[in-house]
Amino acid sequence: MAAEPDIQPLPVQAAVSAAPADLPETTLHALEHLQSRFAGDRMLLRNGGRIDEVSPSHYRVRGISASARLGDVIEHRSASGARSGEIVRIGPEEVLVAPYERNADAGIGDPVFIQTGRGAAPHASWRGRVIDALGRPVDGAGSLLQGKAGEAAAAPLAMSRQRVTTGFRTGVRVIDIFTPICFGQRLGIFAGSGVGKSTLLAMLASAEAFDTVVVALVGERGREVREFLEDTIGAESLAKTVAVVATSDESAMMRKRAPDMAMRVAEHFREQGQRVLLVLDSITRFAHALREVAIGVGEPPVARGYPASVFTDLPKLLERAGPGVDGAGSITAILSVLVDGDDHNDPVADSIRGILDGHVVLDRSIAEQGRYPPVDPLASISRLAPKAWTKEQQILVTRLRSMIARFEDTRDIRLLGAYQPGADPELDLAVRQVPTIYEALTQTPQDRVSPDPFADLARHLRSKEKPVDEPVE
Ligand SMILES: Nc1ncnc2c1ncn2[C@@H]1O[C@H](COP(=O)(O)OP(=O)(O)O)[C@@H](O)[C@H]1O
Ligand SMILES: [Mg+2]
Repeated sequence: MAAEPDIQPLPVQAAVSAAPADLPETTLHALEHLQSRFAGDRMLLRNGGRIDEVSPSHYRVRGISASARLGDVIEHRSASGARSGEIVRIGPEEVLVAPYERNADAGIGDPVFIQTGRGAAPHASWRGRVIDALGRPVDGAGSLLQGKAGEAAAAPLAMSRQRVTTGFRTGVRVIDIFTPICFGQRLGIFAGSGVGKSTLLAMLASAEAFDTVVVALVGERGREVREFLEDTIGAESLAKTVAVVATSDESAMMRKRAPDMAMRVAEHFREQGQRVLLVLDSITRFAHALREVAIGVGEPPVARGYPASVFTDLPKLLERAGPGVDGAGSITAILSVLVDGDDHNDPVADSIRGILDGHVVLDRSIAEQGRYPPVDPLASISRLAPKAWTKEQQILVTRLRSMIARFEDTRDIRLLGAYQPGADPELDLAVRQVPTIYEALTQTPQDRVSPDPFADLARHLRSKEKPVDEPVE
């Protein structure tokens, strides 16, 4: 037997008194249906239930199982005001709700209602604003205009998508030379903590090639959010940026929702034909949130504490990025992946690497040498680089790579003093030129962006070479 439905009158002009609580459910549904035909979204009556059990991460609600759908947003009237949460499991008698607020303050018997209105819908005027995972403004700059509600989010069909063929300049020299990116590509930045992921992401977010930039900051410390937005991205790029923020102290549910919100905003602008950049820092913290919610619902962990659903949710999100259908724009996605303690067998890093069209590896030892951004050009690849390079650039990069490999391979020998110039002309060239190349690739967020990184590199090499030597060109 399902619990008695609760009925709640909404504060609208037409005063409708609450229906008696013993009204049979079928009659209630008929009433709901009837009034929805006249009142549209503004429901006068709603189906509700009551809280039955409370735990730190969830609560159980009786009485709404019949009309509940996974992912439905619920409203909960607690002693300290209105709260919201999301349905994460439905049983015949009870549904499980994960609250959005950290201190959900749920009490046994509190009334709970399924939200009937639609959620936040992105609007062109959201550029320049900072919102939370539910699309509410958090920058104190007033309320947001709402766009048209779209249909449920899904990736465009594979065969109707445009192809990824056009490269662009990010302005970050080491990326534009070694791992150039195309519009609609999905690229991961892999590194341990404190190596330079967020800084590089923010530098990439200032790329001029995009109409709109969407930044999703998931699980960051609150202090880092302002640093990221104000210092590293800068005021100019911020005007065309929508930032979606769920800091580390917010609930797992909010951290889980933030990337989805960011993707919806990006999809909105792609629909308008725009070239959109989506920056996500970090996907690992998103995976942690997925894990926390799934474990709370009782899913068994399969790989290092991660339940199986985490590994289906990650590609589901990332597949939505990329080029749109013909006539639409594209979403280029750049995301940071935390590889803790250089653990490259981390199941999340592993599964993400397989979904992406390229990965940039940052190396702690490079950062320790003060070479920022600390990209390891030998370990990084962009699968679409051949479409972004000219033939000559591709040949040059291959030469640069082998020279750097030569230089790094012989580092120990040279430190031991066993290197003799003159025996191997190729090694001699590498020893002479690679430090200069490294110097040319060094770049801070304050440095001027480079419109032609290859010309910069050539110029830099020429200025350092003695006149007899041929610079690489
Ligand atoms: N391009 C850069 N130029 C100069 N310093 C940098 C650069 N990138 C990172 N850093 C230094 O490294 C620190 C950590 O970088 P951050 O991007 O926050 O790392 P992560 O996001 O990987 O934890 C920064 O506070 C800064 O001092
Ligand atoms: Mg960071």
